[in-house]
Amino acid sequence: MAPMALALILGWCLAAASRAQQLPRPSLSLHPSQGVSLGDTVTLRCHLPRLAARVELYQGGRWRSVMDKKEDMAEFSLVSTEQEDAGTYRCKYRVLEPPWTSRLSDPVELVITDRMFPPPGISLHPEKPVRMGTNVTIHCWNNYNGITFLHKDGCSAPIQHQDPDGGGTATFTLFGVTPADAGSYRCFYRPKGFYPFLSSPLGNNVTLEMESASAPPGAEGTSYRNFVVAVVRGCAAALVFALGLYFILDARSLWIQRDVRSGAPQ
Ligand SMILES: *[C@@H]1O[C@H](CO)[C@@H](O)[C@H](O)[C@H]1NC(C)=O
Ligand SMILES: *[C@@H]1O[C@H](CO)[C@@H](O)[C@H](O)[C@H]1NC(C)=O
Repeated sequence: MAPMALALILGWCLAAASRAQQLPRPSLSLHPSQGVSLGDTVTLRCHLPRLAARVELYQGGRWRSVMDKKEDMAEFSLVSTEQEDAGTYRCKYRVLEPPWTSRLSDPVELVITDRMFPPPGISLHPEKPVRMGTNVTIHCWNNYNGITFLHKDGCSAPIQHQDPDGGGTATFTLFGVTPADAGSYRCFYRPKGFYPFLSSPLGNNVTLEMESASAPPGAEGTSYRNFVVAVVRGCAAALVFALGLYFILDARSLWIQRDVRSGAPQ
């Protein structure tokens, strides 16, 4: 009897699982998707591929709320966000006929900036304009041993991140920089020992400048110009000398011819 009951339950579970597969998954989006500070209002939108009877929101695997439902979208607003609102969210929906539940959407991360954390310090090496191919280092430090992110102005996503071990200083290297790397850089960090999706504000910027290739400034340019002038002068002197030599030889040959002619018997 027991094995049969087990088989029935198993069969039911498999059937339920395969039904969930049949419903297309919803997708979740965040508005605004970035730059949310503590106290801001954020809207989560669950986009529904078909009419649903009920839509549920989960935060980090825990049921969070049932959402207001519109035609093809369910909206959930977090008014005046708090620290514990930071995290990953997913949604799913139910339909009545037949009574199926979809799988969860892909997760979205709600990162909240908390100004309680001071912005990180930053430094750039070398500070002067660099040539193509130079390795440039950016150090960012904080007192919360946080995961540190390097942000470039104009890029929406952080370009590198690092978990500094112990010291709280992250070292980012831009290997063999090109003109595309020129610009302003800043850091922010996610402090350890707090809610994991809290972030510090962006810190001050450092600016990576490239030497312009067309007009190399400084001593090297001057010595190059001196070299060119010396070469031109040398060539001119050699030309004058060669011309002089040519005229002398030419004149000599004329004299010789005249001597030969005048000395010859007529
Ligand atoms: C840049 O770093 C790489 C890897 O450490 C090294 O092989 C290369 O020689 C460095 N380039 C310069 C110009 O220092
Ligand atoms: C970067 O910081 C400097 C001061 O350190 C400021 O003058 C400049 O406007 C900043 N650049 C950007 C793009 O914010």
